[in-house]
Amino acid sequence: MKPTDRIYIAGHTGMVGSALVRTWQQAGYNDIITRTSTELDLTNQQAVAQFFEQEKPDYVLMAAAKVGGIEANRMALADFFYQNTMMATNTIHQSWKHGVKKLLFLGSSCVYPKFASQPIHESELLQGMLEPTNEAYALAKIAGVKMCSYYRKQFGCNFIAAMPCNLYGYGDRYDAQLSHVIPAMILKMHKAKQEGAKEVTLWGTGTPLREFLFVDDLASACLLLMHSYNDDEWINIGSGTEIAIKDLALMVQHAVGFTGTVTFDPNMPDGTPRKVLDTKKLRALGWEPQVLLSDGLAKTYIDFTTRFTSINH
Ligand SMILES: NC(=O)c1ccc[n+]([C@@H]2O[C@H](COP(=O)([O-])OP(=O)(O)OC[C@H]3O[C@@H](n4cnc5c(N)ncnc54)[C@H](OP(=O)(O)O)[C@@H]3O)[C@@H](O)[C@H]2O)c1
Repeated sequence: MKPTDRIYIAGHTGMVGSALVRTWQQAGYNDIITRTSTELDLTNQQAVAQFFEQEKPDYVLMAAAKVGGIEANRMALADFFYQNTMMATNTIHQSWKHGVKKLLFLGSSCVYPKFASQPIHESELLQGMLEPTNEAYALAKIAGVKMCSYYRKQFGCNFIAAMPCNLYGYGDRYDAQLSHVIPAMILKMHKAKQEGAKEVTLWGTGTPLREFLFVDDLASACLLLMHSYNDDEWINIGSGTEIAIKDLALMVQHAVGFTGTVTFDPNMPDGTPRKVLDTKKLRALGWEPQVLLSDGLAKTYIDFTTRFTSINH
């Protein structure tokens, strides 16, 4: 990739897409093409074809998707499947038709089988049943990952796919229904701090182990992959560090400055006991995460208070 190349970053308003834009700009790339979903609906085949014809990007980073938690998925199985399949299919197909030199498609650790061996190696994909609550989303994402491989095999396209672990950081979504674990904790503890509440109760036992990566570290891994990874097999991106949910809660509490007590409700579901990616393949390329969880949480909380000043005051 040269600084003068045209790079289409799909999903630039999202947490991941905005981190990709920041990272590519910092790396000196100035010809970055972006479109909101209103300007270009990636589920619309004709519009996507027209866009590629007009803009002729050299490289494509695919970070657009319909994303949501368990409840959002449950309420809209068809939407999650249809929209994510269409976005992936249109973007990958038009990238081939218009001679895109390289494309990166983002999958997710949640597309691996529910009972995959831990840490989850890349070879675990499609080796078992999916988590039923996000099956529609996972199947659509797996289609995108495999499409990259099929277009490589049939047409020789240099299309790669990556599987990030749970991400957090700048630009995350704060919504009681839709948020992932870290923004959900921040939201709850911030509200408790503001209201002077003495206690916050979180779901489950607090014992499950999870892995988190600051979104700018994800973007730096993507930059490395775009420069030096050209294999058919998808590649995991994770911090490689596991933390129990109850220890994470203490760290979030510290970042937020909530002085009350954090308790857990063991009557609520825990989810899978352990979920961590095997990231040996990525580390062999020389990548290391730069942001410690404690620092990342502090940055995330500042971003939260800056963006939601009405909540802050
Ligand atoms: N967040 C995580 O923890 C995580 C973990 C692993 C993998 N990932 C992957 O990373 C990618 C991005 O996730 P995110 O957290 O950044 O999601 P996000 O914050 O919800 O952003 C989604 C982006 O997709 C765009 N989009 C949605 N529907 C579209 C459509 N029909 N046409 C065009 N653009 C559309 C949105 O554009 P508008 O705002 O303009 O509507 C937005 O920019 C996803 O593929 C996800 O699977 C995320």
